Amino acid sequence: MNILGIHAAYTSRSHDPSACLIQNGKVIAAIEEERLNRIKTSTSLFPERAIRACIAMANISIHEIDVVVADGSTYPPLKDKINRSLVDSFGYSPPIELTHHAYAHCAGSFVSSGFDEALVVSVDGVGDQVATLICTAKKLGSSVEYKELYRGDITTSLGVYYSVFTNYLGFRSIEGEYKVMGMAAYGSSKHDLSNLLEFNPATGELVCKNNQFIDLENYTSVFEPSYKEKFIESLTGVRRPVYFSNGFQQEHFDLAASVQFQFQKTYLDLISYFLKKTGLKKLCLSGGCSLNCLANKELLGKPIDVYVMPAASDRGLSMGAAMYMASQTSQSVSPVQNMYLGRSFEPAEIKKSLDICGVSYTELSDPTIGCASAIAEGKVVGWFQGRSEFGPRALGHRSILANPQAAEMKDILNAKIKFRESYRPFAPAILESELNDSGLDNTHLPYMTFTVDVPSDLARKIPGAVHFDGTARVQSVSHDNSPLFAGLLDQVQHQNGFGAVINTSFNLAGEPIVDSPHDAIRTFYSSGIDTLYLGNFKLEKSCS
Ligand SMILES: [Fe+2]
Repeated sequence: MNILGIHAAYTSRSHDPSACLIQNGKVIAAIEEERLNRIKTSTSLFPERAIRACIAMANISIHEIDVVVADGSTYPPLKDKINRSLVDSFGYSPPIELTHHAYAHCAGSFVSSGFDEALVVSVDGVGDQVATLICTAKKLGSSVEYKELYRGDITTSLGVYYSVFTNYLGFRSIEGEYKVMGMAAYGSSKHDLSNLLEFNPATGELVCKNNQFIDLENYTSVFEPSYKEKFIESLTGVRRPVYFSNGFQQEHFDLAASVQFQFQKTYLDLISYFLKKTGLKKLCLSGGCSLNCLANKELLGKPIDVYVMPAASDRGLSMGAAMYMASQTSQSVSPVQNMYLGRSFEPAEIKKSLDICGVSYTELSDPTIGCASAIAEGKVVGWFQGRSEFGPRALGHRSILANPQAAEMKDILNAKIKFRESYRPFAPAILESELNDSGLDNTHLPYMTFTVDVPSDLARKIPGAVHFDGTARVQSVSHDNSPLFAGLLDQVQHQNGFGAVINTSFNLAGEPIVDSPHDAIRTFYSSGIDTLYLGNFKLEKSCS
């Protein structure tokens, strides 16, 4: 049976369309539309290219899809819109079903986790009128039984709360939340924001005591400015920065720390309450807020197993919708083994792209040796290998890599490629075997969904990848999870003495992560990347 999950960004607050194909209970392919059309977040777009890519990766036609399933069940016109779009693009529409946005988030997390029973939490901005959904999930044979414990609407939305302040600090919602998290390390939580949003343990509910910080009545798009400037200014005494990104004063970093503190407290209080209430020891998280890796750090210290859906935001809804449909129709779905679910390219295809672009290149038998040497020499390297990642993180298949042993590497990366704000950290990818003696309690962190406090011995080995507050969003890499990337880190270990690299996504600021060889070549020549390893082909700048 072929189930095609899609997230069609056709509703007013919708963004990040994607597609995912589950074939006979196995996730075969998943990819976001933005990777293919090169439009960041692809707001209001139908995932036509993503669907084409998925069915191509499965080597089937649209006629072999048994059912298309999308989130958006509280918006009945969506079915007709999807039908028309499929007929327009493919000349045919398979049967279409709709699922609830929050249940798609929950299913995406629970089914991909492989747990038999868990507390499942979805926390996001809003979708299908729900911003927070908490339920228990239990495998019953090949189906899954969900029992709902709590749902909160947009008036108590943790995602909207965070997005509004992200916007107030001068960033774009949906994309800028990581910047606020990065800023928080440089500030103190001086402002009490508990009168905006908190969790009440007496009632077991989220409480919004004052929604005056947001113009909810007229709030129709996640991208429109919705903060009430005068209210926030009078509440915090912090004026909105005029020249955002470069015009921050200490008060803005303090506001970011206050926003993070109140978010984190509310998020953790909510989760702790329902863990205690159910007695469950396994936890699945999803929804865009669960990508708050700083808050997730606190969960690592609890005596529970925590799984965060790697594509937790709306870009993962296609997978979640397909998994929800499968479990409701007694189609058992295998847990996801890794997130390398996008496109890959044969050597001949890569060579064709290189020849079309007319660039010079060298063909290698093994790119890991030269790449490790280049990293050891302090070069900034583009690394394009295998299938692209599904989700917001580059996990070593579409990555820019550098040496974390150099403390100044963060500044070099910012100057050459990323042009990012100085307060944003870069993350390390480390061989899982290297982490075993590092002093970290949890060494299996394959998806960059948790920040950890870096033990001092480890921090001395990777100064270029440790944040101002002594934390890092570590990716642990193993041959089981990522053989291609682990092979490179083995070489880095051999040459550098420690198997770790700085791993940042292969893209320029404001652009989607590269997907095709052509994207990689264009980004290479539009940036200060020194060397590009494109499959087994090596490209260098003539001046280097
Ligand atoms: Fe969502």
